[in-house]
Amino acid sequence: SGIDALGDLRGKRVLVRSDLNVPLDGTPPTMGITDDGRIRASVPTIRELADAGARVVVTAHLGRPKGAPEDRYSLRPVAARLGELLGTEVAFATDTVGDSARSTVDGLADGQVAVLENVRFNAGETSKDAAERGAFADQLAALADAFVSDGFGVVHRKQASVYDVAQRLPHAMGGLVSREIDVLRRLTVDPERPYVVVLGGSKVSDKLGVIDNLLGKADKLLIGGGMVFTFLKAQGHEVGKSLLEEDQLDVCRSYLTRAEESGVQILLPTDIVVDTAFPSGDAEPHPVVVGSDAIPADSLGLDIGPESAVAFAAALSDARTVFWNGPMGVFEVGAFAEGTRAVAQALTTIDGLSVVGGGDSAAAVRTLGFDEATFGHISTGGGASLEYLEGKELPGITVLED
Ligand code: 3PG
Repeated sequence: SGIDALGDLRGKRVLVRSDLNVPLDGTPPTMGITDDGRIRASVPTIRELADAGARVVVTAHLGRPKGAPEDRYSLRPVAARLGELLGTEVAFATDTVGDSARSTVDGLADGQVAVLENVRFNAGETSKDAAERGAFADQLAALADAFVSDGFGVVHRKQASVYDVAQRLPHAMGGLVSREIDVLRRLTVDPERPYVVVLGGSKVSDKLGVIDNLLGKADKLLIGGGMVFTFLKAQGHEVGKSLLEEDQLDVCRSYLTRAEESGVQILLPTDIVVDTAFPSGDAEPHPVVVGSDAIPADSLGLDIGPESAVAFAAALSDARTVFWNGPMGVFEVGAFAEGTRAVAQALTTIDGLSVVGGGDSAAAVRTLGFDEATFGHISTGGGASLEYLEGKELPGITVLED
């Protein structure tokens, strides 16, 4: 693997950037991890380094704190879970580059693992100012002799622990990042056809680049999730209280026209599961199925309907390459999970390459009880996999190649 390039690691301090940004619920200090997929995906590289005799120092972020500590974004519960998964004790530093980090790293024996507190508790991590980021990266780099980039979910971020630190230490690509890149390359370089892309999630504005790029590449584009209502509205339908991005209506219209011109089939749902309120903890859901051209003014769409689920599954049935990003509805609530379940189910039967991209859709397939092994690949990166498919340069990758 890539880390062999670093030579004999025995006794060396190796800083690993992992993506341990997992969904949590509850309140501090008792936060529960609702999906530990990213932690599990990070284990093999950490174990590989520990087995090679390195003193492993893991750096990662959780959520989007504003450059200062916040209890609810502490990595402590994540470090505990990592220890369970590794089957060894994992030391935890209560800061990222301060006294606790230094003494924790100093206390490591060969083959032991430490996790540093949330790297985004430091303003330098995400600063747009290269000098400020660099100063923080200097402090991170001082904790280690080498750097391994294994946080695929963050390689699209030009941040100190992803980008700048690689310029300061001998570095290598971890196995997770290289596997992810290999799969995504297969989606972009001569994909086997039919190539079908399923997009969901709440915002069209997050997906513009990828739709733009895929209109020239995919054979079919299936659209669901919250973003579909901007498309339905662009077609002239009323969407009631559903999510709507008014400022993207023209863009959606232009995509529909371009798809027609280029022979790419865009499939939108013909029916929608609506409710009069967004599901909240105490209220019982009242799901009603309506035509997507007949969403009542007092209702909001929360899932694609059963007829659409069948149509989406049929459109996927003969696909040889599939990329799916974004749930079809509010899958966390049983009454609005069926569209997402139908797409996931269809992906498990693909004769070819099926890729689930994105934190949310990956969490959805696990939460809905699917066996991960029935998918070709479940990516740990949401934004990162989308940016790769957009054809954008990923700073966390290019910095390793320089
Ligand atoms: C993700 O959740 O997609 C990654 O962990 C990146 O997080 P970010 O979008 O807050 O940079």
